[in-house]
Amino acid sequence: MSDPLASAGTASTPAVAAGDELVRVENLVKHFPVRAGGLVRRTVGQVHAVDDVSLSIPRGQTLGLVGETGSGKSTLARCVAGLIPVTSGRVIFDGRDITNLSRGAMRPIRREVQMIFQDPYSSLNPRRRVGAIIGDPFAIHKTATGGERKRQVQELMERVGLNPEHFNRFPAEFSGGQRQRIGVARALALRPKLIICDEPVSALDVSIQAQVLNLLADLQRDYGLTYLFIAHDLEVVRHVSDSVAVMYLGRIGESGPRDPIYASPRHPYTVALLSAAPAADPDTAAARQRIILPATCPRRSTHPQDAGSTRAARKRKRCAASKSPSSRPRQATRPPT
Ligand SMILES: Nc1ncnc2c1ncn2[C@@H]1O[C@H](COP(=O)(O)OP(=O)(O)OP(=O)(O)O)[C@@H](O)[C@H]1O
Ligand SMILES: [Mg+2]
Repeated sequence: MSDPLASAGTASTPAVAAGDELVRVENLVKHFPVRAGGLVRRTVGQVHAVDDVSLSIPRGQTLGLVGETGSGKSTLARCVAGLIPVTSGRVIFDGRDITNLSRGAMRPIRREVQMIFQDPYSSLNPRRRVGAIIGDPFAIHKTATGGERKRQVQELMERVGLNPEHFNRFPAEFSGGQRQRIGVARALALRPKLIICDEPVSALDVSIQAQVLNLLADLQRDYGLTYLFIAHDLEVVRHVSDSVAVMYLGRIGESGPRDPIYASPRHPYTVALLSAAPAADPDTAAARQRIILPATCPRRSTHPQDAGSTRAARKRKRCAASKSPSSRPRQATRPPT
């Protein structure tokens, strides 16, 4: 029987003229070892977190990355940012192959690729003053010192909508939205080309979300920034993205320009995802047929003692017999619990 997800997938890299492309990911694979044992830890399997992913982000544009929890979005982002080594494949940034570069070789690239995280509070050291936190990139890359650093930090604070006089305050003295602005200011400090936003507004109130999204849009316009924007909320992704990639079990199920994907999704998982999104208009909401995906199979594991392996095999047989969107065999593996 043909695999419905595989046949619907449009995972090919979108065509972009070489000079217009800031990021290109080619057949990226990231496996994490599963270790077991007592004193001597042995590798007994692999988590296939990212499995043969290719994508492209044109300069000055936003690629929205959506997908269910555990589908590999953050892992992909960390591979692109060079924070973790990749198992295979390539990451091309601004025409340079930055795959698995050494620390020293990666240093100049780090200035150009920054990240903003979901929980601004846990990514800010509570015992350090905000001025020092935002000034860290200047200190690490030795680009400004003393009074000049303070001036630049206060300029950044103003640019992201914070009061520069709050330079000496601690993160706890700011609201959630303000803390995310601190994260944005820190990411912006070295004038990066690419900002990877990993669920940057998921923890915020809806009204605050809109303010932070508008700030990111303003900054993109002013500084020509390119964003890889990860989110669960399809409306947020639609609002910010030029193109969208839908991740499913470590792979890109469907990718392309935003409007066609929202208007006529081709991948069964995208269809299910869109059917679950809340609609503001009650008539649209009533007309919408919600697709409930059956429980997903456990991921294939190479762990010999993984009780889930046999269960997975049984479920795969059942899935293969049904025509459900989850009938595609899993590429990825969860560590045994
Ligand atoms: N350091 C690690 N070691 C082992 N497994 C990992 C590691 N980091 C991530 N994984 C596994 O890789 C898979 C993908 O995780 P990832 O965090 O990338 O998902 P995600 O799509 O970002 O999920 P979420 O939407 O919940 O943030 C998961 O099964 C996760 O358990
Ligand atoms: Mg994540």
